[in-house]
Amino acid sequence: MAESIYRELILEHNKNPQNRGTLDPADYSYQDTNPLCGDEVRIDVRVADDKISEIAFSGRGCAISQASASILTEMVKGQPLDEVKALSKEDLLDELGIPLSPARLKCALLSLKVLKAGIYGVNAAEDVWQ
Ligand code: FES
Repeated sequence: MAESIYRELILEHNKNPQNRGTLDPADYSYQDTNPLCGDEVRIDVRVADDKISEIAFSGRGCAISQASASILTEMVKGQPLDEVKALSKEDLLDELGIPLSPARLKCALLSLKVLKAGIYGVNAAEDVWQ
């Protein structure tokens, strides 16, 4: 896919985010901040039959962070928890599809860090930003 199509994908998800909101109650909720800018992402998850049955994200941030959270929630909705645990940063970056500077990588990966820390604990999320 051409890079411009990926850019459009990011702009579209930023404009019309999927799964934006909160879940109350949720089985897992976690929020974290991109230390470079102070922007925050929160993700709430409900689990049924060891799969993510519902997921919602909230928070504020740049277009890449918000689009990435929207895309990530679409990727993992309905997926078994062990597959979500195995999801790598490359998997998410492949979906985003555009080259990113190191600072923008943190924007793109904040949602994955929040998702993994929320479900599996902060240690399981440590590799996301390394
Ligand atoms: Fe803050 Fe991207 S500039 S998350």
